[in-house]
Amino acid sequence: MWWNEVRMLASFAFSYTSRRIPCCGAGDGREEKLMDHVLQNAERNPESVIQTMDAFAKSGTWFMSIGDRKGKILDAALQKRKPALVLELGSYCGYSAVRIASQLAIPGSKLFTVEINPRYADIARQIIDHAGLSSQIHQLPGPLSSQIEALQLALKSSSLDFVFMDHSKDYYLEDYLLLKNFKLIGDGSVVFADNMGFPGSPQFWNYLHRGEGQELETEYHQTKVEYLDWINDTVAISTFRG
Ligand SMILES: C[S@@+](CC[C@H](N)C(=O)[O-])C[C@H]1O[C@@H](n2cnc3c(N)ncnc32)[C@H](O)[C@@H]1O
Repeated sequence: MWWNEVRMLASFAFSYTSRRIPCCGAGDGREEKLMDHVLQNAERNPESVIQTMDAFAKSGTWFMSIGDRKGKILDAALQKRKPALVLELGSYCGYSAVRIASQLAIPGSKLFTVEINPRYADIARQIIDHAGLSSQIHQLPGPLSSQIEALQLALKSSSLDFVFMDHSKDYYLEDYLLLKNFKLIGDGSVVFADNMGFPGSPQFWNYLHRGEGQELETEYHQTKVEYLDWINDTVAISTFRG
């Protein structure tokens, strides 16, 4: 058991200190290995895909997917809001996209997921297809600013019910304000921000705390970083009161 934790620590440290992929990630092929493992071992349904991804990560390779512990906080927020229109920023390998889309109960519900790295977007596409969710999940190349008009068109002037922010932490505030300016955030929209504790998003944190973001009613959940027991993290779940 301790050996696994040491491997996980080394894997996490490598991922965080490596600069081989400018926007995020280790660039050591771990994502391709995860995809091959899923395609070969998971049954073609969301539950099996999620379990297979979690088990692969827990066997000693760290991934920046939200993981099972914070995933349960995400599940609870989705159950509470019961969204039909969801936006995810940061698809990575598709873990959270599969997790979110599998819980969208309202007929015609849609998840739009934005990913800036084409390599990760392609991995996510194959994993989403394996989970049988391709028709519900619409993948968009990032950044959000390049897609905002297309998104507005696709939403037919409706606002989003739920936004999951899990991309570059430097963009949380900028992209939230972009959505707000384009009126894609409306009364009752929920904004779920991951990693507010680690590595943190100082701009968005200050916006929530220093009075500017008064339109957002926020609750915080103390938790741990994905797949690690010894680094604290916080997620912020905000509801827009327009
Ligand atoms: C923490 S991972 C997302 C994990 C994923 N949500 C999950 O839980 O399975 C962050 C992802 O955001 C992507 N990313 C970084 N900056 C971005 C941006 N400005 N727009 C869209 N994606 C971005 C990275 O390439 C990476 O795949």
